[in-house]
Amino acid sequence: MGITALGVGVLAQTQLSYTQAQVDLGKTTYSAQCVMCHGAQLQGVSGPALAGDKFLKKWGRNTLDDFYYIMSTSMPQTNPGSLSKDQYLAIEAYVLDTNGFKAVGDKSLAQEDLKSFKFTK
Ligand code: HEC
Repeated sequence: MGITALGVGVLAQTQLSYTQAQVDLGKTTYSAQCVMCHGAQLQGVSGPALAGDKFLKKWGRNTLDDFYYIMSTSMPQTNPGSLSKDQYLAIEAYVLDTNGFKAVGDKSLAQEDLKSFKFTK
């Protein structure tokens, strides 16, 4: 391909990828900050489900960036915007993985990738 050899800097991913480390950090962070309202299986408790058919139906037309925006500006509900960018990205990787996206790879999910992908498998 040789595209990166052009030296145009970091190119956005063309295929969804996040690392296992992100999924693990996402799970840890989620378990501390989100689980009480969204559930251990992301099934929803006082907050809506973040996994499953209903969730994917609702979110399928939205980009990962839309999800990131909602999550990072309004969650955790008790202290919106309180997590780091890396933690929000990691939670997003964890949510994707729990929804069966199976995109664990070498490349981390980065903020510049979020507009390129939707919640559609
Ligand atoms: C105190 C309970 C509570 C906590 C903690 C909490 N949430 Fe929520 N969350 C809610 C409620 C209630 C809603 C629905 C109302 C709203 O959107 O404000 C919601 C909505 C959402 C939505 C939008 C879902 C949709 O389909 O509209 C996302 C995404 C989300 N939360 C992610 C998170 C993440 C990630 C965390 C942890 C960093 C978190 N929430 C922590 C209660 C909570």
